[in-house]
Amino acid sequence: MQNPEVFILAIESSCDDTAAAVLHNDKVLSNVVANQLIHNQYGGVVPELASRAHQQNIVPVIDAALRKANVQKEQLSAIAFTQGPGLMGSLLVGSSFSKSLSLALQIPLIAVNHMHAHILAHFIDEEGYDKPEFPFLALTISGGHTQIVKVNSFFDMEIIGETTDDAVGEAFDKSAKILGLPYPGGPLIDKYAQLGNPKAFVFTKPKVPGLDFSFSGLKTAILYFIQKKKQENPNFIEENLNDICASIQYTIIEILIDKLKLAVQQTGIKQIAIGGGVSANSGIRTRLKENPYGWKTYIPKFEYTTDNAAMIGIVGYQKYLSNTFETASVVSKARIQF
Ligand code: KG4
Ligand code: ZN
Repeated sequence: MQNPEVFILAIESSCDDTAAAVLHNDKVLSNVVANQLIHNQYGGVVPELASRAHQQNIVPVIDAALRKANVQKEQLSAIAFTQGPGLMGSLLVGSSFSKSLSLALQIPLIAVNHMHAHILAHFIDEEGYDKPEFPFLALTISGGHTQIVKVNSFFDMEIIGETTDDAVGEAFDKSAKILGLPYPGGPLIDKYAQLGNPKAFVFTKPKVPGLDFSFSGLKTAILYFIQKKKQENPNFIEENLNDICASIQYTIIEILIDKLKLAVQQTGIKQIAIGGGVSANSGIRTRLKENPYGWKTYIPKFEYTTDNAAMIGIVGYQKYLSNTFETASVVSKARIQF
């Protein structure tokens, strides 16, 4: 039976977004994210700058989340925070703040695995959103992660495939960098790809056994291809940007779909839930919506797919219901067992 009055304050600070959310049971009352634009000029996340920015952002972001939710801190039932995986300096800002607040308010502290949260984001109660049923396959694709997970229940999950090198988002961002596009390049590749021919150029797909992924070879293939073409024609990128982006995106989507097909074949599970920033990609969305394989696919609201605290809150709520709490001696973990 659901406890009708659980208010969770959730805090996410694993990478370069400082985020806070307030949930009432499984409903999101507020979901605030402060992006750290400082990293754009460096072409990637600079860990030292990320933790400093978290320190500046965390109080105003939490304050905004409580105000938007119209919840007083005295009403909170528990504080949930991201324990890992992530950048240690960034994680420490969120965990230290959460520990202090839970001590001050005398309420339970809940540690959340960021990867569980990307998956359980599908259980946020949203009008019109059909939640997946167990068991299902979760494909988590972002700048930091690429995983296929067999999800048997809220806390019984098994990684059945993951990247052996770069994450999908990195493949997008590094390809974009080769093309001279600013960071993060994923959304730009998507934008130009929509105007191009996905079959204009062919990039060889990596041959990785089983359900694992590899994207570093693709990045190198793109680099050599562009270097060669630019020697022949210095304006090659400018003249072919849409087609290059469409071809890169097409190849990446094919890699993902091939592995999903294999995962469905191996597990017999046809429910696929997508999460992570790359699930915003219009090519992936279209491909999954076309539903050529008879799968039932789930893509949550965009604000719950990129790094956010509402997803930390929904895990917090489940852990609250099962009395899974931590003491202030809980430690942040850059790497964390699933
Ligand atoms: O989940 P996220 O916000 O942060 C983490 O990395 O955890 O994901 C960010 C990643 C970046 O690599 C970004 O380029 C990529 O998601 N991304 C996209 C699109 N929107 C964001 N990649 C391809 N197409 C998009 N539309
Ligand atoms: Zn993430």
